[in-house]
Amino acid sequence: MKAAVVTARGGVPEYRDVPDPHPAEGQAVLRVEAVAVENVDRAIVDGTHYTAAAFQAALPAVPCFDGVGRTPDGTLVGFGGLQPPHGALAEYVVVPDRQWAPIPEGIEAPTAAVLATAITGMCMKTAAGLQPGETVLVQGATGVAGRLAVQIARLLGAGRVVGTGRDTTALASLADLGVDAVIDTTAPDDDLVRSYRDTAGEGYDVIVDFLWGRPTELLCRALTPESFALPKPTRLVQVGEAAGEAFELPARALRTSGLEIYGAARNLMTGMADAYAQVVEWVRSGELHVDVTTMPLSGIAEAWQRTDLRGSRLVIVPD
Ligand SMILES: NC(=O)c1ccc[n+]([C@@H]2O[C@H](COP(=O)([O-])OP(=O)(O)OC[C@H]3O[C@@H](n4cnc5c(N)ncnc54)[C@H](OP(=O)(O)O)[C@@H]3O)[C@@H](O)[C@H]2O)c1
Repeated sequence: MKAAVVTARGGVPEYRDVPDPHPAEGQAVLRVEAVAVENVDRAIVDGTHYTAAAFQAALPAVPCFDGVGRTPDGTLVGFGGLQPPHGALAEYVVVPDRQWAPIPEGIEAPTAAVLATAITGMCMKTAAGLQPGETVLVQGATGVAGRLAVQIARLLGAGRVVGTGRDTTALASLADLGVDAVIDTTAPDDDLVRSYRDTAGEGYDVIVDFLWGRPTELLCRALTPESFALPKPTRLVQVGEAAGEAFELPARALRTSGLEIYGAARNLMTGMADAYAQVVEWVRSGELHVDVTTMPLSGIAEAWQRTDLRGSRLVIVPD
């Protein structure tokens, strides 16, 4: 069969022949229908992700470890749990029986491949307990996950939605998704701190943070009171690190600011089923738009190197 193979750390996947898969007992062979290529997949190939060691040790290897496939009886399923060197960017994958589940009717394979990213946006409810009418700030709102989070904030009844980004055109496009105000994170430090404050209205209740790094350091500075105060809580959910994996957090940023910081996985074990069902319902009804750009597996080298897909998820489909 054909697959996309990475031969060296940081290499571009090559479309080439690999041995056909042979399932053991308790495994199924699925024909791959759609695989989303995400930042985490690139970081694993580059060796910069904290989980990259197994992939790097297995080289040459096929990247991406989940996707959407078809069982021999034609059922469309989502699968996961592949282990290097066997990745999802291939014509077929071998998957343990427990690690695939049917995709609900009415959702196309490329869209289904992006459901996991959409569900991440539900962390504003599962992790931060968003209530209707509250104000949501989406840090990194111009990316794929951010654009979905903006829509989800609206669908969950947020009273006000603020989005941040670093590209003027992309920021302007967020108005169509229901953003009330935008903040450009490329502003100089003091200006950006002022923008966070001036745009906060009566305060950010929930922050969904895909950036971390400098923008979130300055956001925490903006949330820090400059006199003794008892402000209302701001629940920040950490989801991504597109702008940096660490920043300096002075003690005073937490002491009286009301800032609470959660990981996106908080409460997901108990809230995942409801979050998934809700996202599926919105996608089916057309209320939640998932922007995908599909390219064939044979074009993986070109697809992998594309940098023009800001806000749209690259999804690899069969030739
Ligand atoms: N934990 C999870 O389940 C989960 C799920 C999905 C995503 N994530 C993480 O969330 C983050 C965003 O994912 P995504 O799929 O939305 O990626 P994406 O489509 O590439 O979007 C990245 C976002 O970050 C912005 N950005 C990138 N580098 C930046 C920098 N140096 N300074 C300021 N802004 C910067 C981008 O702005 P531009 O539009 O200007 O490029 C865009 O808004 C990633 O870290 C990803 O790994 C986590």
